[in-house]
Amino acid sequence: MIKVGIVGGTGYTGVELLRLLAQHPEVKIQAITSRTEAGMSVAEMFPSLRGRIDLKFTSPAEAKLQECDVVFFATPHGVAMAQAKELLAAGVKVLDLAADFRLKDTAEFTKWYGMEHACPEILAEAVYGLPEINREAIKKARVVGLAGCYPTSVQLGLAPLLASASTGGKALIDGTHIISDSKSGTSGAGRKAEIGTLHAESSDNFKAYGVKGHRHLPEIVQGLKAIAGHDQIGLTFVPHLTPLVRGIHSTLYVRLTEAGLGVDYQKLYEDFYQNEPFVDVMPAGSHPETRSVRGSNGLRIAVHRPGNGDTLVILVVEDNLVKGASGQGVQCMNLMFGLPETTGLTQIALSP
Ligand SMILES: NC(=O)c1ccc[n+]([C@@H]2O[C@H](COP(=O)([O-])OP(=O)(O)OC[C@H]3O[C@@H](n4cnc5c(N)ncnc54)[C@H](OP(=O)(O)O)[C@@H]3O)[C@@H](O)[C@H]2O)c1
Repeated sequence: MIKVGIVGGTGYTGVELLRLLAQHPEVKIQAITSRTEAGMSVAEMFPSLRGRIDLKFTSPAEAKLQECDVVFFATPHGVAMAQAKELLAAGVKVLDLAADFRLKDTAEFTKWYGMEHACPEILAEAVYGLPEINREAIKKARVVGLAGCYPTSVQLGLAPLLASASTGGKALIDGTHIISDSKSGTSGAGRKAEIGTLHAESSDNFKAYGVKGHRHLPEIVQGLKAIAGHDQIGLTFVPHLTPLVRGIHSTLYVRLTEAGLGVDYQKLYEDFYQNEPFVDVMPAGSHPETRSVRGSNGLRIAVHRPGNGDTLVILVVEDNLVKGASGQGVQCMNLMFGLPETTGLTQIALSP
């Protein structure tokens, strides 16, 4: 059994990790931390876990995380990088759901997150946690910086168009002019109290935010450059808050090049993702709904070419807490421990 520790067990991604890992046949949850709720039983805070998890929250200092095989950090940025060195020295693998191990450039990290990076040497060996793109590296990794929620939807939505293996080296789209119009449910902002996510503020309402620059922009651009194998990427990324609890819907707009006009994009996407257990390319003409992935690790994509013109529109849906966070974390853990990638992740989405 894999001994798992979770730092930040009271947040939304933390409780989602508990839900998934309680059903994982190869996992023993060893420790769950909370600074504010130390001593409280997990089932008291989350009755959905009654009879499934018989543990109490402990403070991070008392959690004996060095005795685990792997520790998930479901915490704000800055927490994992402060503890990674000690855990790695004790032979513990680290999976961070925050941004500490995503951006490879420490100056970019400081610019967007307002703090110095605490361990650039560990950042250098960390692997970006997006299995469909980085599977082989994740298998060998000691530290994984899980892809963010919006970045997962945008990168997997665009990968077939940019990956040189699928395009035969030809530029099918103008990579310098990509538009991502993305929407997220309010659980994306976490469980902490904030005015913007109060029911009276966010229900029956719809707004964009972060148009000038959002922290996920440099992460997505870094990822798209790596997929494309070149630096000529320009992205306009506009996130929106929707009155959903769970779900991300990204609508991606790209302009085709001359070389890209004659391509069958439905086939390109189906071929690219044919062996991926969690990516579903829907039939031509589909409009995927966020509820078709609610509670599951699946991500659904539909490719449209309105009027057979030179603009391609790609629709992507995922559950921000599963494929956008904790499910992707379990998927990476499975790879890191040599398990079948789908272990513990075969839940079907809730409908309605
Ligand atoms: N929500 C999403 O959809 C989503 C998706 C992808 C990635 N993420 C990322 O995942 C991380 C967690 O997100 P979330 O939505 O679950 O946040 P959250 O609901 O606000 O929960 C944060 C958790 O971290 C703990 N915590 C806070 N500061 C800590 C510290 N200094 N040391 C130890 N524990 C600390 C909190 O518990 P105590 O205060 O009781 O210790 C709480 O359990 C964030 O970095 C977020 O950006 C979130």
